[in-house]
Amino acid sequence: LKPKYFYDDYGSDLFENITELPEYYLTRAETSIINTISSDLMRTLDPTEIVELGSGSSVKTQSFLNNWDYEASQRTFIPFDVSRSIVENASKSFLASYPKLNIHGIIGDFERHLEKIPKPSGKRLILFLGSTLGNLDPEFQVKFLTNIHDLLLPLDRLLIGIDLVKNETLLNAAYNDSAGITAKFNKNILSVLNNRVGSNFDEHNFEHYAYYNQNTTRVEMHLVSKTKHDVFLPKINLHATFRSEETIWTESSYKFTKETIEDVLVQSGLRIAQWHTDKLSSFALVLVGLR
Ligand code: AVJ
Repeated sequence: LKPKYFYDDYGSDLFENITELPEYYLTRAETSIINTISSDLMRTLDPTEIVELGSGSSVKTQSFLNNWDYEASQRTFIPFDVSRSIVENASKSFLASYPKLNIHGIIGDFERHLEKIPKPSGKRLILFLGSTLGNLDPEFQVKFLTNIHDLLLPLDRLLIGIDLVKNETLLNAAYNDSAGITAKFNKNILSVLNNRVGSNFDEHNFEHYAYYNQNTTRVEMHLVSKTKHDVFLPKINLHATFRSEETIWTESSYKFTKETIEDVLVQSGLRIAQWHTDKLSSFALVLVGLR
């Protein structure tokens, strides 16, 4: 399933809860890198616009704004997310904190609606944080980054957050938290489907299953059917029969090395300008420019 289907209002809230789980190191690692690099980065780039794709609550983004001369004239922040409430709330709270900043919120799917981003008014920094890139399958990573490539001008930069290949135990724990929030997040995709296509999925018939696949360097999330049962999806006229143990593959979360992300970037006409990791090298922020 496409990852965007997790993020209705409830799913977006659950994801915010995930970012605070003790096992979910990703957000803390990324925040620590951002806090380390944002002041130098904003001083040297000095962009006119910041575009944030898959912006979510934009909590991490404040570190960039706080180090930005956002009161200079005609500075614009463009949060782009698939969840209406999240774009509205982030925009409202940013308007309150940064009164002189222009905000242009976009509600859309970054795999389909990049053309909704207004024409640039100056140098741009595009943010794609949180290892969201890792939720795309490799061919779509290249497709998406090629579309970003087409948006970039020579002085523009793209900052990508990626999770790195690491010890399997840590990866498995991050997607199997003891509080069961990730399981709730996973099962919520069934309720999104029920709302969108009128289906009758019952989450009690499924079990959360997530594991790190070492061969493909990705965490796979599945919903495993506990019994043999049928589901009907009226709006797409699909009768689905699940065997016991049969799974719905709900998400992939790819983990990278510097070499594997560089390969994806090069295929997309891009290059690494800067490479930053946290102390434990669990996460990386890659500053990217045109080749
Ligand atoms: C949205 C990419 C940050 O893949 O880690 C969290 C979503 N899925 N727990 C990830 C997610 C299960 C997440 N990102």
